[in-house]
Amino acid sequence: MDSIHIRGGVRLQGKVRIQGSKNASLPILAATLLTRGTNHIRNCPKIADVYRMLHLLESLGCQVAWEGDGVRVNAEDAGLRQMPADAITGMRSSLCLLGALLGRTGRVVMEYPGGCVIGARPIDLHLGALQQLGAHFHEEEGTIIGEAPRGLTGTLIQMPKSSVGATENIVLAAVMARGETIVRGAAREPEVEALCAFLCQCGAKIQGIGTDELRIEGGRALHGAQIRVPADRIVAGTYLLACLGTGGSVLLEDAPIGHMGAVIALARQLGATLQASSEGLFVQAPDVLTACPALSTEIYPGFPTDLQSIALAVMTAADGTCLIEEKIFENRFRVLEPLTDMGGHFARIDARRVLVEGNSTLQGREVEARELRGGAALVVAGLMAGGETVVRGCAFIDRGYENICRDLRELGARIYRV
Ligand code: EPZ
Repeated sequence: MDSIHIRGGVRLQGKVRIQGSKNASLPILAATLLTRGTNHIRNCPKIADVYRMLHLLESLGCQVAWEGDGVRVNAEDAGLRQMPADAITGMRSSLCLLGALLGRTGRVVMEYPGGCVIGARPIDLHLGALQQLGAHFHEEEGTIIGEAPRGLTGTLIQMPKSSVGATENIVLAAVMARGETIVRGAAREPEVEALCAFLCQCGAKIQGIGTDELRIEGGRALHGAQIRVPADRIVAGTYLLACLGTGGSVLLEDAPIGHMGAVIALARQLGATLQASSEGLFVQAPDVLTACPALSTEIYPGFPTDLQSIALAVMTAADGTCLIEEKIFENRFRVLEPLTDMGGHFARIDARRVLVEGNSTLQGREVEARELRGGAALVVAGLMAGGETVVRGCAFIDRGYENICRDLRELGARIYRV
């Protein structure tokens, strides 16, 4: 298993281009299954989860080809075929194939995409909503079998709680259903917006995009389309927080500023100076980070749960304590252990809250990533720490970051992969 080596203590300086969004590209790739013709998904990030999704699409009979910064997908000959189990179970976002395959073929057979260290990751909201559209599900030895023998029929769906993936699955199925579907309590994350925008490019009719009430007119034939995937707000937020943690000044080229309100607000609270321009977002860290007394993760447009672990690392350098509350996932503090080994001081209040003690100086050491964003947090901690940090388990980081070492070297970091 390879590792990332970092010699910390360097103030990040310079500019870095932000890659396309992982969590927007994955449902958009799944949506190509609903189209007849060729799709060109531009600014598609070259990350492990995208490669897995493309492998799944090819296994279903799609033609896939990288071209420049994007990928062309033709689903003309796609149909229900056996999908490689490891690609399904290895990636939560394979779940969005549920709605796409039900929409395309009226049937889906896939391994249960299990949970991970950040939580049980149940799929009750997905199955419940798709059942309201007319699908029936049963499980056989860890495999989900979904069928809609009489096709899908639009209806009113009231979401019991906000779910990005469940909203995406509903949209993917509803565009192929008979009649209109109204989704109340839909997730408003930019990734849902990007999926809806792509489907409209393909000929779908969706109203309320960007709000928590979507109105989807089903039954329209969808043709191939081109879309540019928005830049990844979590990757941009990761590098923004890394700049603050190292006292640097960086330009985040192509940063999706409109999707970063919460992390920009936090940066300002910490004393940063930020400047938006046509190039992207310029961030100047203060000499000392002002304490932020409390921070909680929320659904969009609140502070994103995917940046919580990185915030944990950076808050160790603030001039006071910060109470961090994780409101989205039930087990997203695994990274506390290695951060403590590096010299961070944390008090676990309860399952959802941690008090971070500021004014700590982290020390480099060998640590292990256990999941994607925790791994990114360990890299950021290594940039901040004195001495050398070795982060093992890089495969987790590769799932969401095209090349975190390349990006951070652009900003002057002493970081390389072995
Ligand atoms: C998406 O996951 C993202 N993944 C996650 O990013 C992100 O953290 C999450 O949304 C929240 O923003 C992708 O887009 C591929 P949810 P998703 O359904 O759709 C519970 C990353 O690092 N829930 O909005 O799985 C769930 O357990 C990843 O890029 C149910 O109870 O998240 C969680 O507590 C990590 N039943 C909450 O809802 C369900 O059927 C929100 O989950 C579904 C979810």
